[in-house]
Amino acid sequence: MAGDPFLIGENMTGGYGRGADILHDCTVSVEKGQIAVIVGPNGAGKSTAMKAIFGMLDLRKGSVRIDGEDITRLSPQARVPKGMAFVPQTSNIFPSMTVEENLEMGAFLRRDDIRDTMDQVYGLFPILKDKRRQNAGELSGGQRQQVAVGRALMTQPKVLMLDEPTAGVSPIVMDELFDRIIEVARAGITILMVEQNAKQALDIADIGYVLVQGSNAHTGTGKELLEDPVVRRTFLGG
Ligand SMILES: Nc1ncnc2c1ncn2[C@@H]1O[C@H](COP(=O)(O)OP(=O)(O)OP(=O)(O)O)[C@@H](O)[C@H]1O
Ligand SMILES: [Mg+2]
Repeated sequence: MAGDPFLIGENMTGGYGRGADILHDCTVSVEKGQIAVIVGPNGAGKSTAMKAIFGMLDLRKGSVRIDGEDITRLSPQARVPKGMAFVPQTSNIFPSMTVEENLEMGAFLRRDDIRDTMDQVYGLFPILKDKRRQNAGELSGGQRQQVAVGRALMTQPKVLMLDEPTAGVSPIVMDELFDRIIEVARAGITILMVEQNAKQALDIADIGYVLVQGSNAHTGTGKELLEDPVVRRTFLGG
């Protein structure tokens, strides 16, 4: 559609299987090369919104579009060649495979030479190059998250979707990971991520969404949300 954002999940309504709706008219979008951040309390439906955009949920209403193309009815596998990569909140690496094998798995759909992309991932996360022969399961939490992000980048996505990429890592590692995510966005890859570290994430967000009970509660630039007294008091701890 003309004037569409690069990626949009619009008026998404639906839940899991035959269960009650989790998302209610929920809309999330992001412009090309920008960073969108979804925040909100536990159980708000943040991961569900990400899964819906990646096609892991049957929406009862609403649509998902990328670059103007309606992909609402496509399977997750069919969304990968459209340029989507999704790093889920849990089980996002193969622990008994090496770091390099994890990256190779990310590229399994590709038929071209993956060496350059792998070098780019190693350039972004140098520690992964040092540990490329080690099993991913032996890495620290922050390093595993780097493997997960790196694996997603191996598909050469247009949109990188990250569900809580900094979960369980120290503040220093979180800052570091956010810096790398900014770098990825500057390279032209659109970022949609869910974050528990709301303040820090909104600080790097071009656009932010506060979800509550599967609905949009507040939407604005990262700066607007950080300055909104209601958002501050209710979701950011003052
Ligand atoms: N696979 C599933 N089957 C059925 N219900 C689910 C499933 N996954 C999540 N839910 C329900 O959907 C609602 C939203 O969960 P979701 O995981 O999207 O929240 P969230 O905002 O990501 O929370 P958190 O911050 O804890 O990650 C919850 O009530 C949850 O119980
Ligand atoms: Mg979640």
